[in-house]
Amino acid sequence: MCGIVGYIGTQTAIDILVHGLEKLEYRGYDSAGVATIIENQIHSVKAKGKLYNLRSKLEKESSIAKIGIGHTRWATHGKPEEYNAHPHLDGQGKIAVVQNGIIENYQELRQQLKTEGCEFVSDTDTEVIPHLIAKYYNPEVDDAFMSAVNKTISRLDGAFAIAVLCVDFPDELIVARQNAPLTIGFGQGEFYCASDVTALVHHTTTILTLENGEIARLTPLGVEIYDFSGQRLRKAPRTLDWSPVTVEKQGFRHFMLKEIHEQPAVVRTCLEAYINSNWEPNSNENPVNLNLSPHIYEDLEHIQIVACGTSWHASLIGKYLLEQIAQIPTFVEYASEFRYSPTPIMRNTATIGVTQSGETADTIAALEMEKQRRIIATNEYRPGILGITNRPESTLATIVDQVINTYAGIEIGVAATKTFLAQVMSFYVLALDLGYRRQKISAQRVMEIINGLSQLPNQMEQILHSEEEKIKELASDFPDTRDFIFIGRGINFPIALEGALKLKEISYIHAEGYPAGEMKHGPIALLDAHVPVVAIAVSGSVYEKVISNAQEAKARDARLIGVVVENDTEDIFQDKLVIPEVDELFSPVLSVIPLQLLSYYIASLRGLDVDQPRNLAKSVTVE
Ligand code: M6R
Repeated sequence: MCGIVGYIGTQTAIDILVHGLEKLEYRGYDSAGVATIIENQIHSVKAKGKLYNLRSKLEKESSIAKIGIGHTRWATHGKPEEYNAHPHLDGQGKIAVVQNGIIENYQELRQQLKTEGCEFVSDTDTEVIPHLIAKYYNPEVDDAFMSAVNKTISRLDGAFAIAVLCVDFPDELIVARQNAPLTIGFGQGEFYCASDVTALVHHTTTILTLENGEIARLTPLGVEIYDFSGQRLRKAPRTLDWSPVTVEKQGFRHFMLKEIHEQPAVVRTCLEAYINSNWEPNSNENPVNLNLSPHIYEDLEHIQIVACGTSWHASLIGKYLLEQIAQIPTFVEYASEFRYSPTPIMRNTATIGVTQSGETADTIAALEMEKQRRIIATNEYRPGILGITNRPESTLATIVDQVINTYAGIEIGVAATKTFLAQVMSFYVLALDLGYRRQKISAQRVMEIINGLSQLPNQMEQILHSEEEKIKELASDFPDTRDFIFIGRGINFPIALEGALKLKEISYIHAEGYPAGEMKHGPIALLDAHVPVVAIAVSGSVYEKVISNAQEAKARDARLIGVVVENDTEDIFQDKLVIPEVDELFSPVLSVIPLQLLSYYIASLRGLDVDQPRNLAKSVTVE
């Protein structure tokens, strides 16, 4: 949700800023802008729409500036117009600010600043920041720039990450963070900042993630970090084990397609990280290396999960696994609902926040609220808040007691694919760990589950190999289709939801996922020959039931597409997307792949921007 970058050093700032914005564009693409300092003046260029509009404006000028800030916007306050694009300036054009977040008290601040004579040129919440900095700026005091930014921050309510330039300090870039991500990159005599390390890895892998309540001064000589009270902090950067290649398309047309193809490797990585491959039924070791806090293994009575979007779908599969494998009653909540109507506090309950980005505002706020509730309710906090994330350095990690890293690698496509499967894999591992250590499953069953999981990467590769071309061809049958229905039952009901979400978010086709048995209670009224129905009908306990529900759809003239196992003999499906025969328990890891490919090819054949669909952003850091 908006991306910010900053640079100070010896190279041409504009090139570095634009490259950084390109890597952050997945966070929002309603407008983009940069500001630099040239000859004691702020030079700002902005453009509505995607980054290429800004780039073509910048091509007409050459810049020698060695300091600058940049922004790519996902509109919250004010339309996606150029006048609302960042950077925002104070009235005299001496201070420039880019911001990611929301200033909740901006109306009140704006009103006050207006009565003091400030003129506003945008509808954004951000514009109050440069005006406040200008108001507090007193060139007579020591450290005037830093002091003015500090005073300004003390007036801001909400979540924000900012980067600020001031013409009187052409060798200083000031950045600050409060509940929105910001990382500093360290080079040789040059320093960077960005909302996400994806914008930094091309230049440096030496990074420092700013924490909430921290403000930093970047100069060509180094980085100084303070807390908001002005106390100097001593912090050491760390080295990231990423290569710039990780954030390239590597020959695929879109990041989404590349990320779909990376899924077998992601599953392998997860298994290598967490499953003890030498484990045998009579050994003294544990089959899973998660090492959760001991009391979780002993006292746990319930699990509640909070998540949004695709992570919520992964959590529904998690519920199934935790209940069926570990016998722990599990509740899955939308984080955005849980925040305002939480379930009453239950004894011995672990809460799990599931978020690939680790930054989703609703999930973060729900977990913070839950932590506070528990401290107040019990007077004694027992570690019981876990996070499942692909970003162990994210805000989530600062809240939870323990992070389960999903090891999916950076995901750039706005539509989550490999991070979804990585979350699902984390739930297999967690359920197996809890089930075994709490003696809810036999050693024999543990072996069966480990064997089943270990075969998944090859089976996934088989689907990608045998089904992709067929699915591409099938996708061409729906150039004008306006509605799709996805049905599934049991562990594959969340896959119906996920298939529908993937299709709607990247192809803009109306799509709904339903538990197959619920169709006849209302949604079946939607069906006719123009509404294709995708049924996940893999072998297992609910196979016949799903087939009956698919029959009911066929009787209403719907075109039926089945996700079925090899050698399925059912002939009601007009099209079959085939996955290898597996135990039902593992089937979602396979059944989701044809649906990801189907939505990808439908959107791609429609010529849509698959990686950056309209109105969306990868990381939703606003409520
Ligand atoms: O980063 P998170 O996992 O917390 O994100 C949650 C949702 O915003 C995200 O899954 C969203 O639904 C994706 N665009 C789905 O593809």
